Amino acid sequence: MPMLLSIKWENDRVYILDQRKLPQEIGFIECDDHEEVAKAIENLSIRGAPAIGIASAMAVALASMNMNVSKSSQLYEKLIPVFRRLIDTRPTAVNIKWAIERMKRLIKKNLHLSPYELKTLIKEEALKIQREDMEINRKIGEFTLPLFKNNCTVMTYCNAGALATGGYGTATAGMYLAKEKGIKFRVFACETRPVLQGARLTAFELKEAGIDVTLLPDNTAGALLRKGIVDFVIVGTDRTVKNGDVANKIGTYTLAVLCKENKIPFYVAAPTSSIDLKIKSGDEIPIEERDAEEVTTIRNIRIAPEGVKAINMAFDVTPSKYVTAIITEKGAFLPKHIKYIKNLDKIENLRLNL
Ligand code: MRU
Repeated sequence: MPMLLSIKWENDRVYILDQRKLPQEIGFIECDDHEEVAKAIENLSIRGAPAIGIASAMAVALASMNMNVSKSSQLYEKLIPVFRRLIDTRPTAVNIKWAIERMKRLIKKNLHLSPYELKTLIKEEALKIQREDMEINRKIGEFTLPLFKNNCTVMTYCNAGALATGGYGTATAGMYLAKEKGIKFRVFACETRPVLQGARLTAFELKEAGIDVTLLPDNTAGALLRKGIVDFVIVGTDRTVKNGDVANKIGTYTLAVLCKENKIPFYVAAPTSSIDLKIKSGDEIPIEERDAEEVTTIRNIRIAPEGVKAINMAFDVTPSKYVTAIITEKGAFLPKHIKYIKNLDKIENLRLNL
C-alpha cells in the first residue's frame, strides 16, 4: 500500500508535506536550514509526536551541514542552541527531546571523527530514525490487529496516522494491517476541533487507503458510544508517563471517560519513543497553549466575534485508570506496567494478549 510521507530528505534538503493545506492541496515546504524546520513544526505544517521527532533529527542534520568548523568538538558546541530551538518548538510531545538526546549521544560518541565524517553520520542517524519509526509502527499494528474482528467499528481521534509518523501511524497501524489482511471494518473519525486533524488528515489518509471512514463532529462521539455501535476506541499519544497517564490531543480525556461510562475499551498506541519515564504523573506534563486565533477562526475565516477571548490548550491528560491498554512496538501492556518499561525483559513478560 503506498504510504504518504510527511517528511523526506532529498539532495541534502528536507521536504515537509504542508499539512495545513490538506486535504485540498498536496505541497511540500523545502527547508535548507533548521530554522525553517523549526517554524514548520511550530505552525503545524508537520505535526504528530513521532513526525516532529523525525523532523527535529533532520533539522539537526541540516544545521550541522551548514556549519563551517575545523574540529568536531566545535560542531557539538555550535549545535547546542539548535537543540534548544527545536526542543522549544512544541513542549508536550516528548519525541523531539527523545530525538535530540539520541543525536547528542551519537555526536558525543563520535567526536574523534572528522567534521565531514560526523556530519555524514548525523544525517544517516536522522534517516535511520525515520526508517525505524515506520518499522515500529508496523509492529504496533501487529499487536493491535487482534482487536480487528470482521465487521467491527473503531473510533479514533485527531490524527495518529501515517501523516503523524514515519509511516503507518500508531493508532492507524492496525487499520492499515487489517485492510491488508482483507478484514472488514469501519472507522469513525472525530473531526478534532480546533485544527481539525481528524477531518482534514485522518479522514483524508484513510480514504486514500480505501478504508471505510466516517467523519463525525466531536460532540457526536458520546451518542455513538452510548448506542453500543463502537467496538473500541484507539488514539495516539504525545507523552506517556511512568504511572501510565497519557497526554494526547485535547478532547481525548473526554472520549476516554465516555468509554469507561459505556464500557467500551479505550486503547492508546504508543511507540516507546513517546514514553517518558522521568515524569511520574500526567499532571507534570507540560501542556502546550496555542494562539486563540485557531479557535476563533477556521482556516482564516472568523467564526467568533472580533476580540473575544478563547482557550486553546492543544492537549489534555487522560489518567491511566481510563486506559484499557497501551500498545507499543514491544506489545500491549496495562498502563500500570509502563513503569517497568526500562527493563524490557520484564516488560515482555507482562505483555497482554488482546
Ligand atoms: O497537535 P498535533 O496535531 O501535533 O497533535 C497530534 C496528536 O495529538 C497525536 O495523537 C499524537 O501526536 C500522536 S501521533 C502518532
